[in-house]
Amino acid sequence: MNSKKLETALVSAGRSKRYTQGSVNPVIQRASSLVFESMAEKKRATAGRADGELFYGRRGTLTHFSLQEAMTELEGGAGCSLYPCGAAAVANAILAFVSAGDNVLMSGSVYEPTQDFCTKILSKMNVSTTWFDHSSGCEIAEQVQPNTRVVFLESPASITMEVQDVPAIVAAVRSKAPEAIIIIDNTWGAGVLFRALDFGVDISIQAGTKYLIGHSDAMIGTAVANQRCWPQLRENSYLMGQMVDADTAYMASRGLRTLAVRLRQHEQSAIQVARWLAERPEVAVVNHPALPQCKGHAFWQRDFTGSSGLFSFVLKEKVSDTQLAHYLDNFTHFSMAYSWGGYESLILANQPEELAAIRPAGAVDFSGTLVRLHIGLENVDDLIDDLRKGFERLHQ
Ligand SMILES: Cc1ncc(COP(=O)(O)O)c(C=O)c1O
Repeated sequence: MNSKKLETALVSAGRSKRYTQGSVNPVIQRASSLVFESMAEKKRATAGRADGELFYGRRGTLTHFSLQEAMTELEGGAGCSLYPCGAAAVANAILAFVSAGDNVLMSGSVYEPTQDFCTKILSKMNVSTTWFDHSSGCEIAEQVQPNTRVVFLESPASITMEVQDVPAIVAAVRSKAPEAIIIIDNTWGAGVLFRALDFGVDISIQAGTKYLIGHSDAMIGTAVANQRCWPQLRENSYLMGQMVDADTAYMASRGLRTLAVRLRQHEQSAIQVARWLAERPEVAVVNHPALPQCKGHAFWQRDFTGSSGLFSFVLKEKVSDTQLAHYLDNFTHFSMAYSWGGYESLILANQPEELAAIRPAGAVDFSGTLVRLHIGLENVDDLIDDLRKGFERLHQ
């Protein structure tokens, strides 16, 4: 990011004259065919097709190049591949590096469809998955096998929000398998609150669907790679036909401009709600990385520059499904929906047995119902008031 502060980089990244052509924002260049004026130009475009020359729509247009350049700068990589959604970024980043007979070492607390990709797709290709469930590097070293080709992290964890000791994991993996590719799902920090590549991670993936888009109205995935992984990630993704339309790429670029202020508000309100919840008699624990009671809080404090709007809390008891429905069905400001990262507040819940089913390596060390919140940009007092009424419903 050079010497630019984050807010400044978010405003300026990817806005060179080549992309903006006299306007403030990058142009929206919709194209499949890109026309060459001469044989010489076609030859030049073909030679430079991987380096930002206009060649064919699937390689990208000025709109895509602008976003790719911005993400590369923001996350400190060598290049950025774009995908139609976050799940495609996850799948294709892994696929770019594994062959039959390889092993993937994966955190057991990753996003459920990422787990399913391993068990349902990689397994068919004779690529095995080993799950790990700790935040320290020591235990991981023991699980690295001679055929471990990819190590996949997600920090904080999906739903339960444990923060991983990424530098220790990277060091342990490198000592056992220097060639292994370390990939992280970095969606929670929008790729900017945790600069994964600076910590030795090879590829930082983001479901741009969340904070980049920011308005819950489009889907995109990004994967920023370091120098050693970029050519292979880029070419494999291209051959897998991975691209996104220019309009969506434009929306993600536009999202970058307001990302810093949105994140700051998500952070401020989420911490206020989390602290309020931590005082509630019904709550056993609040899994918010910025709160000391969250597993791996010290790693968050050391490695992240902030927090976003997503966290969870666990009730002291498992409520019945009927109680839970009465609780969830009657919020005013919290909607029930998958995804997160938009301007609106969301709520979802998991019963302990549901969580246990998606923790392949893991001890689920609580017995109460878990509630996950995404704190949006509404007035925080309104949100707390809504949550207070929710607890009253639980007592009815
Ligand atoms: C942590 C995480 N990674 C990846 C994804 C997948 O992103 P998408 O829905 O854009 O495919 C999600 C979606 O909820 C997610 O929460």
